[in-house]
Amino acid sequence: MGQIWQVRVPELGKDFPCKEDESVFAAMIRARTGPVTYGCAGGGCGACRMRISSGEWEAFKNMSVAHVTEDDRKEGIVLLCCVQPRSDLTIARV
Ligand code: FES
Repeated sequence: MGQIWQVRVPELGKDFPCKEDESVFAAMIRARTGPVTYGCAGGGCGACRMRISSGEWEAFKNMSVAHVTEDDRKEGIVLLCCVQPRSDLTIARV
């Protein structure tokens, strides 16, 4: 069984579990924990663009530069449907 990490959403006062082999977006939808409520789940629409303010993550899909620039990445801004957790995470709206 793979590792399960916790994803915290301080602005909502909630957190939810995310498996190491699923996207943070998929876990958020499964847990019905906002603020992301819809999207393409494929890196194309930008609806899941958020900031990971703490924790380790890995991109398992390319994040379009149309939605996430290199400078964005340096600030922790990602597409949640393209990243998987590698530790507990804290996320926030951009
Ligand atoms: S849900 Fe569309 S880019 Fe992530």
